[in-house]
Amino acid sequence: MILVAGGTGRLGRLVVHRLADRGLPVTVLTRDPDRAAGLPAEVLVGDVRRPLAFGQVDVVVSAVHGFAGPGGGTPQTVDRDGNANLVDAAKAAGADVVMLSVQGAAADHPMLLHRMKCAAEEHLRASGIPWTVVRATAFRELWVELLGRSRRPLVFGVGDNPINFVPVDEVAALVERAVIDRSLRGQVLEAGGQNLTFNQLAATVRPEAPRHVPPFALKVLARVAPPALARQAEAALAMDTIDLTWSRD
Ligand SMILES: NC(=O)c1ccc[n+]([C@@H]2O[C@H](COP(=O)([O-])OP(=O)(O)OC[C@H]3O[C@@H](n4cnc5c(N)ncnc54)[C@H](OP(=O)(O)O)[C@@H]3O)[C@@H](O)[C@H]2O)c1
Repeated sequence: MILVAGGTGRLGRLVVHRLADRGLPVTVLTRDPDRAAGLPAEVLVGDVRRPLAFGQVDVVVSAVHGFAGPGGGTPQTVDRDGNANLVDAAKAAGADVVMLSVQGAAADHPMLLHRMKCAAEEHLRASGIPWTVVRATAFRELWVELLGRSRRPLVFGVGDNPINFVPVDEVAALVERAVIDRSLRGQVLEAGGQNLTFNQLAATVRPEAPRHVPPFALKVLARVAPPALARQAEAALAMDTIDLTWSRD
């Protein structure tokens, strides 16, 4: 049995279909069983922010995140502590873990999410169970969808900083491989694609020139907005300035 936490998400759904297409039995862990409707999987209702217990499971895939989305999760409560709960439950069940992380995860990274993913990776490595980490760059489809929401795409910041975008199905294919191929235990696998600025990506979505949320407005939001919006403004400022490129070598 493969348990996919985050199996209702953009990446997790693709992973569930790929594993089920191989004839493997899959269970999806979700807070809301309605979100798992139509998936070729059994459903286990649970919240990674609380201690978890599984029955017979061979591999736990963690594709959860608390950066955005419903339910009030945060990178601290979901990406760090929720992943720790998943790892501890996997250990008790005697399962391997395949964990989704972010490219560049490090304890001193300027982005909170990257620091919390680093903490999750460290907990996993210290657990003593067989593991594989898949570090991915930004999912291209997510940003294409966000930019395509209005006639003139909305770019957060100046939009001239190159960022690496990867097609989400390529990440799903790598996760599928990590689940099946036990020779990949103890390895960090990397999934990346094309380096593009937000202005370049916006031009692939709509011919109209993009609108911009200027950096000073993002700085104000990062200081005074409610926590979830402030976190997004802070991340947008980082994405507008720090090196988020990737290459295979
Ligand atoms: N998006 C990106 O650009 C990107 C880039 C690199 C790495 N990643 C990583 O790839 C993975 C998948 O990302 P995604 O963008 O596909 O995710 P997504 O579509 O936003 O879905 C998030 C998933 O996390 C689950 N989740 C959130 N909080 C939870 C909680 N407290 N308890 C249980 N489940 C919870 C949600 O399940 P329910 O709502 O059904 O409970 C949902 O399935 C994540 O680990 C993410 O950090 C993403």
